[in-house]
Formats: sequence, C-alpha cells, structure tokens
Amino acid sequence: MKIAMVGSGYVGLVSGACFADFGHDVVCIDKDQSKIDRLHDGIMPIYEPGLDALVESNFKAGRLSFTTSLSEGIKGASAIFIAVGTPSRRGDGHADLSFVYAVAAEVGEHLSNNAVIVTKSTVPVGTGDEVERIIKDSGTTRTFSVVSNPEFLREGAAIRDFKRPDRIVIGAEDDFGRDIMHEVYRPLFLNESPILFTERRTSELIKYAANAFLATKITFINEMADLCEKVGADIQDVSRGIGMDNRIGSKFLHAGPGYGGSCFPKDTLALLKTAEDYDSPTRIVEAVVKTNDSRKRAMGRKVLDALGGAEKARGKKAGLLGLTFKPNTDDMRDSPAIAIAQTLTDAGVIVSAYDPEGMDIAKPIMPDVAMCDDPYSAIEGVDVVAIVTEWDAFRALDMKRLKELVAAPVLVDLRNIYNPEDMRAAGFTYASIGRN
Ligand code: UGA
Repeated sequence: MKIAMVGSGYVGLVSGACFADFGHDVVCIDKDQSKIDRLHDGIMPIYEPGLDALVESNFKAGRLSFTTSLSEGIKGASAIFIAVGTPSRRGDGHADLSFVYAVAAEVGEHLSNNAVIVTKSTVPVGTGDEVERIIKDSGTTRTFSVVSNPEFLREGAAIRDFKRPDRIVIGAEDDFGRDIMHEVYRPLFLNESPILFTERRTSELIKYAANAFLATKITFINEMADLCEKVGADIQDVSRGIGMDNRIGSKFLHAGPGYGGSCFPKDTLALLKTAEDYDSPTRIVEAVVKTNDSRKRAMGRKVLDALGGAEKARGKKAGLLGLTFKPNTDDMRDSPAIAIAQTLTDAGVIVSAYDPEGMDIAKPIMPDVAMCDDPYSAIEGVDVVAIVTEWDAFRALDMKRLKELVAAPVLVDLRNIYNPEDMRAAGFTYASIGRN
C-alpha cells in the first residue's frame, strides 16, 4: 500500500519510517526544502535513538522517499496522513490548526485517487469534521474519508512505541475509512497489538484525555513527594506501594521537577480550552497545569536552598547536569531546566551546564548559562551540583573525582537517581525529591 505522510517532523518521520519498515511504500512530504535535502543525505532533523538507521535502511530498500511536493507525494496513496505541528496559539493556548487546515485544502485540491485522510497530529475534538468540510469544499470528485489516528509515541522510545503499541486508536465514520486503516495497521494486528475503533470525535478526545491523565499522575506524585519531605516519608516507597495496586499501575509515578516537553504542557492547555468552549470545566486538569508550572521555579528555589538560601546565593556557582525535558532527546521545550536556570541566574548565581544532546538548542534559550563539554567541566569549582535530567551518563558519575573538582560537595538530585545513604557516605550534602 502507498502511504503519504504530510509533515516530516517528529511524528511524521518516525511513523513514516516505521510504516516503511512494515513493508508499505511511504513518501514523507515536507515544505522545508533543506529538511528534505538533509533527509536525502541521511541527516535526521531530530535526535531519536534508532531513527537514522531505520530511515537509512528503508530509504535504501526503496520503500521510503522524501519530497517537497504534496501533489506528487500523495499521488496513488491510499492513506494520506497529516502529521504537521499544532503548537499552542500565541495568547490563548488553543491549538493552532492553521497548518492542519492548510494541508487539508492542498490535499483536496490535488487528490487524484480515492483515499483516506488521517489526522495524526494532536487535534482538538471536531477538527476531523472541519478537515472533511475543507476537502469537500475543494470540489474533489474522489471518494474520501477523514479518520482520526492519534499517536502515543514517547520521545526517546518512539520507534518501540510505534512497533509495539499498547493500543492503536482509530476514529472512523465509515467502512471505507475503517477498511483502509485495517490494511495500514495489518502488520501490527499480526503482532496482536490491540486496536480500538471508535467514532472520530471520541478518538480525538482519547488523545487529550490520555495525556491529561498521565500529566495528572505525575503531578499527583510530585505533590505527594512534597508531602513526604514534610512528614518524613519516602516517595520512592510510596510510589512502589501504590503502584503495585493494578488499578493504579506503577508507571508515571516517578517524582521529579515537573513534566515538560512538546506534548503534556501544550495538550493540557488545549484540553482546558476545549472544556471552556463547551462549558464543561475540567478543574482537575486546571489544577495540574498550575501546579506543574509553579513546581519548575520551586525546583530552582530548592537549588538555591542548597546554597544557603537566595540571600546568600549571589556570586555562588551552580553546575546543572541535564537540560532536556527528559533523557534521550534534544528537546528543550518547556523543560524544567529553563525555569531552574532562570531562577538561579535571577538570584545572581553563576550557572554552568552539560547535556549530552540538548546544548545546541539550549544555548539561545539560556544565554547566561555556560555550556560545557562534559559533566566534569560543568561542575568544576561549583558550590552546588544539580541533576536536572536523568541521562544514563549521570547515573554512575565518578563521585570521588566529582568531589575533588567541586568547591563544595553539595548535590541536589531532582530525579532521585542516587541513593541518599551512598551519597552521604561519599561525603556529600545530598538533597533529592520526596526523600528525607
Ligand atoms: C508523551 C506521552 O507519554 C506519549 O504517550 C504521547 O504520545 C506524547 O506525549 C505526545 O503526545 O506526543 P513525551 O512528551 O515524549 O510523551 O514524554 P514522556 O515520557 O511522557 O514524559 C513527559 C514528561 O513527564 C517529562 O518531562 C518526564 O520527565 C516527565 N515524567 C514522566 C515524570 O516526571 N515522571 C514520570 O513518572 C514520567
């Protein structure tokens, strides 16, 4: 089957490469000529483990190609995926759907065979109806169906998530749409991945509800961690203790500096807007958004506390290990590191940092932070070391060397990757999240 993927960003490229790997004939389309040129040269626009090899092998096998021409790319495709960005609209937090609608109009104009048009971009409830209207208005004479098929890919684990999904959700309104989507995902049925067919609006809401629920779970455990610090309990054990209950589940109960990234912050805000538009308030999600926002600066204050408080911090030095919103990505969007670094520099602290993948993107976002070549140069001479992102490279630091390099052996571990007793035994003043 021929598949066209409009938008060769994170979701489009990962999905396109994986579909090609299943044996489909995939064309990835993007308006950005330089991105398409680089893809032809095997250079990925994003950092995602395993993606370059997957793209290369399928490109060489002739199953994956790239073009800037939508009219050419969609020719003969039975499924045309829309995987363009839906950023938060400036000012009001609504998802900006202008890219999605522009693609719909262009698809309508150039549709030369019967096809299913699939929104993979995260779009608010009702977007599929509008996409359908736009394509109809283009005057096409072809049979088409608009389907919703949200993605549940985690950055850093996207290929695995695509190939071994917990479930595939497809919102279709007719048999034509359902049948083609069945063909598209047939290789996954063979792997026994569960597939849920719903109505289109339901599928659109499932995506937002899933992300909002996960954001809620994280925020809940973060608040429990704060309480643990007050009452003298241990959040790791609390997480384990509640996670063993199958009804709760153990995943996404890791306390930390607050969620970031390109999805949870944007999607929770967009869900609030939808709820407001339909006069159906989602107060829990409102609280989650507020709590998570304020947590990021609170994490900066936690590092200041380790320096003896904001008054004593001016002129002192802090070394940040990790800047991206999570490991195995170069994504800095809404990363807690941004608010943490800002809080520190606002208080007059001199900040240095190291991140394995995120520094090029981080540099312009945090111009006052000195970027270093490795973890040890980032912490040389500092009064406090803060672990902000749990990259594997920070899990087994040479503590003896670290202690010799720092001005004061103070470690704030915002991801709980070290054991408090070990750190104290190694002579560190150690603070973490929700533990003693
Ligand atoms: C998230 C969802 O997990 C995916 O299912 C979804 O497809 C994707 O958004 C999307 O909508 O595109 P992602 O943003 O890549 O994926 O990252 P996550 O692994 O979910 O982490 C999000 C944030 O939560 C990170 O800042 C992470 O550090 C934080 N987190 C996660 C915690 O603080 N604790 C946890 O236990 C888990």
